[in-house]
Amino acid sequence: MTELHDRRLTAVRAVMAQVASETALHALNRDRLDRFKSALLELAGQPELFSEGDYPSPTKSQVAKTYLLAESANQGPALYLISILPLGPSPIHDHGTFAIIAGLEGYEHNTLYARSNSETGPGKATLRICDEQILGPCDALALMPQDIHHIDNQHTLPTRHLHLYGTAFEHQTGRLEFDLAAGLAKRITTPKVPVDRSRQVT
Ligand SMILES: [Fe+2]
Repeated sequence: MTELHDRRLTAVRAVMAQVASETALHALNRDRLDRFKSALLELAGQPELFSEGDYPSPTKSQVAKTYLLAESANQGPALYLISILPLGPSPIHDHGTFAIIAGLEGYEHNTLYARSNSETGPGKATLRICDEQILGPCDALALMPQDIHHIDNQHTLPTRHLHLYGTAFEHQTGRLEFDLAAGLAKRITTPKVPVDRSRQVT
């Protein structure tokens, strides 16, 4: 085992242990989410643990790579390194679980939306843009399960960001995608994300 490997293992385990213990004992709220964000920012502040050599950027034909770093038992939180080539906007979506994104390299443009208070779940959806944030190295964004955003990377660099979710992609059954022009939300039962498990840390 190399020193780098040991440091990565220790650092990733510390984040996962904190998140697992707090989510097991307490309901999610924004204060707790902010603590998770701080923990992920600390991890993102050690980019040498997640180098291009250990986690290669996608090829042109792959467009994106999603490396699983750690997952919890019982459909608990999961941590990924996601690298995306410069690409147009994603669908507007929520995650149906909490999501925290912390930047390692590149710039991810996030557009955040507010939905009318009288609406929930699939069906009529009235959205307005409420914020925009560009996530570069050591920036982070924390989203509650029903927070809505889309991402865009029109810059020249691939993004390499850490993503922590309340549950792994294959268990994210509560996600909504939004059609702004039609004013509608639809349920996406399981997002189809090809996950590379070959470089899992723990
Ligand atoms: Fe998202």
